[in-house]
This record gives sequence, structure tokens and C-alpha cells, in this order.
Amino acid sequence: MNDTHKIVSGITITVSENRISADEFNYLTSQVGWGTRASYIVEEALQNTAHSVSIYADNKIIGYGRLIGDKTIFLYIQDIMVVPEYQGKKIGIEIMNALLDKINEYKQMNSDIRTYLGASKGKEQFYEKFGFKTRASADLGEGMILF
Ligand SMILES: CC(C)(COP(=O)(O)OP(=O)(O)OC[C@H]1O[C@@H](n2cnc3c(N)ncnc32)[C@H](O)[C@@H]1OP(=O)(O)O)[C@@H](O)C(=O)NCCC(=O)NCCS
Repeated sequence: MNDTHKIVSGITITVSENRISADEFNYLTSQVGWGTRASYIVEEALQNTAHSVSIYADNKIIGYGRLIGDKTIFLYIQDIMVVPEYQGKKIGIEIMNALLDKINEYKQMNSDIRTYLGASKGKEQFYEKFGFKTRASADLGEGMILF
């Protein structure tokens, strides 16, 4: 576990790596309208996560993001969440920059590592700020999903 303290938009935050609990994860997903899952399912998912970043203010979780994948050839950015009360205060940027720092570490092994994400509708512009392109604009085929 690695903690960094800083002030963002006047809020004192702690950025922690690989720290989140299943209860905290469910708290965040419910806060952003994604519902909750059984704890055992979330625990397994968190255990199988490559790397995660949690943001705390006053010792309470306010934001999160994680990387899944093989850390070498393919990575996926998942579950970027900021609780509504703290949205629009650059916390999302902190989460993304912390994940991108980790991706740059992985790049020391393979500079060609590919990082994907599936943006929620209307959130594409948030990710474009960090250099992500839609597959169509990168002249690639559609991203696909199996439900
Ligand atoms: C999307 C989300 C993570 C952004 O986090 P945030 O802390 O509110 O965003 P920030 O304050 O760090 O914003 C960073 C920049 O992105 C922009 N931005 C944020 N959300 C945006 C959106 N939906 N569309 C376009 N731009 C957006 C901000 O205007 C800001 O731009 P600026 O730096 O030019 O001022 C947050 O709103 C959230 O948790 N939403 C609900 C869950 C969700 O949909 N997650 C994304 C799943 S793909």
C-alpha cells in the first residue's frame, strides 16, 4: 500500500494504491448509480485487479479507478468513479493521472502495451483529455461487448 497526500481544488486528499474494500467499492458504485454486487463477487474482482487507485477525503472514499489486464501487452481502465458531491473538482484527473503513471511503469517492460477503456455514454470527452481516441477515429473496427 502506498499513500500520497495532496490538496486538489482546496480539498485535502489521500491517494492510495490497492487499498479499496468491497464495501467501499459498493458504496461508490451505488453513489454513481451503478448499483451494488454481493461482497464475495466484488472481493474476487478486486483481488484479480492489476492495480487500483482510491482517493480519500476525511478518511472516506470519494473516488476510484482500476487497471485490469496482463500488465504487459493489454490493459483496461475500469470503474472510474467520483462521488457526485466531489465531481467537477479535478478528482477524476487525479485518478486518471495516477493510473497513467502506473501504465508508464508497465511500459518499461513493453513500450507497446495497449490500454483500452469503454467510456460510458457522454463520458468520451473526459477520456479524450488524456489522449484516448474512439476506435473509429483511430481507423479501427468497433469495440464489441458480450452481455
Ligand atoms: C466521469 C467522472 C469520473 C469525472 O470525474 P470528475 O472528478 O467529475 O472530473 P474532473 O473534475 O476531474 O474533470 C476533469 C476534466 O474533464 C471534464 N469532464 C468531466 N466529466 C466530463 C464529461 N462527462 N464530459 C466531458 N467532460 C467532462 C471536466 O470538465 C474537466 O475539464 P477541464 O480540465 O478542462 O476543466 C465523474 O463525473 C464520475 O464519476 N461520473 C460517474 C461515473 C462514470 O460515469 N464514470 C465514467 C465511466 S466510463
